[in-house]
Amino acid sequence: MKLTAEQIQSNWELFIGYINTYIPEPRQSKLLKFYKKHEEEILMMPASHKKAYHNAFPGGYIDHVNRVIEGALEINKVWCNFGAEQNYTVEELVFSAINHDLGKMGDEDNYSHLPSQDEWRKKNLGEMYTFNKKLSYMSVPDRGLRLLVNNGIDISENEWLAIKLHDGLYDPANEPYLKNYMPELKPRTSLVFILHQADLMASRIEFEKEWLPVFKGNVDPKKKNYTLNGNNKNTTKTKALGTIKSQGLKNMLDNL
Ligand SMILES: [Fe+2]
Repeated sequence: MKLTAEQIQSNWELFIGYINTYIPEPRQSKLLKFYKKHEEEILMMPASHKKAYHNAFPGGYIDHVNRVIEGALEINKVWCNFGAEQNYTVEELVFSAINHDLGKMGDEDNYSHLPSQDEWRKKNLGEMYTFNKKLSYMSVPDRGLRLLVNNGIDISENEWLAIKLHDGLYDPANEPYLKNYMPELKPRTSLVFILHQADLMASRIEFEKEWLPVFKGNVDPKKKNYTLNGNNKNTTKTKALGTIKSQGLKNMLDNL
């Protein structure tokens, strides 16, 4: 799967719109400042480095995050309709969704995704990006929370827990928070579960869009075109270069 330059740009505008709509001051300005500073990287980031995972294409990250924000808002309505106490605010819900995967960016000195130069690994393993080895190991939630703290962006307890635990029990590190049978030790906010459900739903849908046509035989995986690897590379690049104003982004696309 791939996004056109226009889709990448409009996804970015939608993402910035969610900050403007749901996050009041003083955090709105701080978030906008942070995201504008890293716009060129985040705009083009994939959601994962490998085709076997979800949204591993340029612009895949923001496409995924927008889906999680929209999913979280809808799933919240379901919880409310079923009588759940809204023990968190809509601002906390959207803030957590906006930033849940921020740690995928890397840190402010080193971005984590580098377009792979290894043709064999791209072709045979679907590894479209390599991880920047200048970064030390840190989980995605930990790195994201650190980025927010370092930029003076306050995080409520509900938001901290929702971002930290957004992978649910897929991450064994979350077990002390989620596999606890003592009532007083269970999370005190449903936000943790709503964000996890939104992320799970978004990732699953992205997987289905990418892979079910292949399993049904409608698409030959060998002929699938990816922006970094496929036959459409030049078309995508030309279109993107024509519509994107930023010189840095043009240079980046030119190097893909
Ligand atoms: Fe996610």
